[in-house]
Amino acid sequence: MQHAGIWGIGSFVEGREVTNTELEKTLDTNDEWIRTRTGIERRVFAEDDVNTSDMAYYSAIEALNDAELNAEELDMILVATVTPDYPFPSVSSLLQERLGAEKAAAMDISAACAGFIYGLATAEQFIKTGMYKHILVIGSEKLSKVTDMKDRNTAVLFGDGAGAAVVGPVEKDKGFLSFELGSDGSGAMHIRQDPQLIMNGREVFKFAVRQMGESSIHVVEKAGLTKDDVDFLVPHQANIRIMEAARERLDLPKDKMAVTVQKYGNTSSSSVPIALVEELKNGKIKDGDLVVMVGFGSGLVWGATAMRWGR
Ligand code: UT7
Repeated sequence: MQHAGIWGIGSFVEGREVTNTELEKTLDTNDEWIRTRTGIERRVFAEDDVNTSDMAYYSAIEALNDAELNAEELDMILVATVTPDYPFPSVSSLLQERLGAEKAAAMDISAACAGFIYGLATAEQFIKTGMYKHILVIGSEKLSKVTDMKDRNTAVLFGDGAGAAVVGPVEKDKGFLSFELGSDGSGAMHIRQDPQLIMNGREVFKFAVRQMGESSIHVVEKAGLTKDDVDFLVPHQANIRIMEAARERLDLPKDKMAVTVQKYGNTSSSSVPIALVEELKNGKIKDGDLVVMVGFGSGLVWGATAMRWGR
């Protein structure tokens, strides 16, 4: 079976930066509460005329350049999002046209904050079997469209952004070594859009602390390795306390975990690829490193992968 890995990455987080102090003016909240309970200091809201497909596009261009691949060479586009421009057509189809990816199949994935990991796992299957060679996987969200800015339980948590990865064939000992995907629909009502975002934070918190740690350990074991082999953790950026719990389960030092939640808040499916891009730029992830990526979210769902960085 052909091994699959990441050839190139890109991200887009631009718009209006909103600090905790600014939110204090319109909400019964304060900077101290938000920082100590979540780790968030600010977030970015996309401009009114920038939608999910626009952010996806900008991150895709960066990822294609990084991978040194032309859009016409893409076989498939997978966009993970819970905030598409329209219920249909898919963001992936909008993107396929805009990129000029003439031969690419296109579909969106709805797995909330675990969507990017679901996308990577889906792409890996097509590459493993030899059906496709080059797949663009994107997490893109404009959560500011669905957040109730009068609800302090949720308004302080979320931000907008996109992150992309070009997935392709890699050497045998590189790329994705294992995946775990899961769902527990008994918690489906804990985070939902009806019509705006509603969340039972405490329940999600308990689930996330348990699941992020367990899934991280599972993918390492499935890869035939132990937690001592892990070089770097890229967790979904929902809350620093949840992320720290996962890091401690892997016995990793603080500087071996990606942290962008303070700058961008929770950007759902795009948080993992955005954090990955930042840490690669910072030189924290090197060729040959064992990287664990893990996410959880509305569904409730979760997804994790252990991968050997490089191609
Ligand atoms: O991508 C997945 C999406 N979701 C998540 O990851 C969310 C997971 N959950 C969390 O991150 C945390 O549960 C929260 C950050 C949402 C909340 O933190 P918590 O430590 O679980 O607080 P809590 O819900 O237990 O609330 C504590 C208090 C409450 O007041 P009372 O009932 O004790 O008087 C809340 O009303 O904090 C209050 N509160 C706030 N206070 C100031 C809730 N939101 C705020 C706020 N500012 N923004």
